[in-house]
Amino acid sequence: MEIIQEIKDILLSAIKKTGIQASDVSVAFSDKADFQCNDIFALAKSNGKNPVELAQEVEKNIEKTDDYSFSVAKPAFININVSNKRLSKELNTFSSSAFLGVKRAEKPLTVVMDYGGANVAKELHVGHLRSPIIGEALARLYKLLGHKVITDTHLGDWGLQMGLTVAQMHDDGYIDGFFDKTKQNKTITLDTLNEEYPKASARKKFDSVFKKKAEDYTLFIQSKKEPYYSVYKFIRDISVEKIKQNYADLNCFFDLWYGESTAEPYMDKIVEIFVNKKIARMSDGALVVDVAEEGENIPTDKTDENGNILYKNPMPPVIIKKFNGADMYATSDIATIFMRNQAFNPDKIVYIVDFRQETHFKQVFRASKKAGISKPEQELLHISYGTINGKDGKAFKTREGTTIKLDDIISLLKNKAKEKLEQNGICDNDELAREIGVAALKFGDLSNAVNKDYVFDIDRFSSFEGKTGPYIQYTAARINSLLEKANMEPGKIDITLEEERNIALSILKLNESYYKAYEQNSLQGICAALYNLTSSFSLMYNNIKINTAEKSKKQKYLALIKLVHRCIAQCLYVLAIDMPEKM
Ligand code: ARG
Repeated sequence: MEIIQEIKDILLSAIKKTGIQASDVSVAFSDKADFQCNDIFALAKSNGKNPVELAQEVEKNIEKTDDYSFSVAKPAFININVSNKRLSKELNTFSSSAFLGVKRAEKPLTVVMDYGGANVAKELHVGHLRSPIIGEALARLYKLLGHKVITDTHLGDWGLQMGLTVAQMHDDGYIDGFFDKTKQNKTITLDTLNEEYPKASARKKFDSVFKKKAEDYTLFIQSKKEPYYSVYKFIRDISVEKIKQNYADLNCFFDLWYGESTAEPYMDKIVEIFVNKKIARMSDGALVVDVAEEGENIPTDKTDENGNILYKNPMPPVIIKKFNGADMYATSDIATIFMRNQAFNPDKIVYIVDFRQETHFKQVFRASKKAGISKPEQELLHISYGTINGKDGKAFKTREGTTIKLDDIISLLKNKAKEKLEQNGICDNDELAREIGVAALKFGDLSNAVNKDYVFDIDRFSSFEGKTGPYIQYTAARINSLLEKANMEPGKIDITLEEERNIALSILKLNESYYKAYEQNSLQGICAALYNLTSSFSLMYNNIKINTAEKSKKQKYLALIKLVHRCIAQCLYVLAIDMPEKM
């Protein structure tokens, strides 16, 4: 059994002997002792006892073993220390276990993770960064804990931007050959799309004729009318190839490359469900579903500029079919839930999407539950994340004040990494620079709370020192070279020194951080625990001459250090950060 579980069991049976019934107690890491139990105070209160006396009584009831020592601290804490022998035993077990002591879920869930969400024909930019970074790490964390995860990037490939791009390309003579076999198409590349979409997007704001045309084209594409649909497929392919490369640069690999369009065959079906169940109603020519709950849509005495009443806690109805018959974003998301349920019957669907879409997901989830498309027991979860800001506290932009493209961010990070590598005498290693640059970005991102904004501080993120991705990588590389130079097989872990204890407790903490991260759907605690482990290693590395120690000592040090290396590797794998051998 594991250390924390063992301590819990000892405490529970000691509590039971006082006549109090408790089904669980919490045991947490502490800086006062190895662990601490803070539950006695509340237990005493709810049982009408004096907290200090109860803590002392519990402590007296504990059966003494060599593995643990217990003591009472004011007001009613129980401090617990674990013996070197017991710690060594735990770590030796970890060394020979498949996931280094990480406990797997007793009841594995089937989970679909929806992240990435790039839009076809639009270039990826800073606003798209957090979803793949957080999503890939969460997916890998769920897998480490034994869950079955299916990842789907859910491309934005069925909306107005498609009609806009195709209409603009038509006006600019790019696609004449699709319409008239006697004519030629102009060469269409990624650059064409990167020019045509922004042009169209700006134009629709002042050119209402063009806007109408783009809406018509969108409808043509959605009804698979030729040649619009063929043009659409053509530009979709060009765009997806680039998106794949962008995501690979970020170490994100999806099981499914589906998109909004993949759910198209189910869209009519779900509209039918809403209509048959009489949940949908017509409103201004559109088909809508009401999803507001109590306390929402409360009318106020204020009106907008058009004289419409303003509401407190507004929750507008979901539009599932537009007046012109066009499919809506929400329709495709509800149809996607229907499709995923047919294909995988998941216990849980997790969406990692920008906070601006909170209302959208509330609408989609409620409508799906209302129609029975999602069963009551299925969990639909939107993890909404904050913005990446510049040092001025506003959304991160280029020097010229425009939105910064993902390619440009990666270049910036790579160049920073190259500078550092050159200082270390490593030149011309583009892939290594990418690995380090992306680590700087990812660790910087994941170290922050998911739902908060954070400042993209490239100098701080890229440093080889402090709590950064490159520092973690650097530590792993140092361990690597130490193990290589050691030229000796590791023995068994046998903890005697304070430095070794530190490492051991850091490893236990890292494992605990996975369970918490899973509960909280946030990787922040894992980053902190990983940094803590690398710091513990550095302390040992600085204080102890490992490679010149006498053989039996050296062998036990190497065993511990090798486990540290494997724990870092497992953790970096979860965070989808590379682990270079040298740097
Ligand atoms: N393409 C969307 C956007 O850029 C994100 C997609 C998120 N996933 C979803 N199932 N709606 O805003």
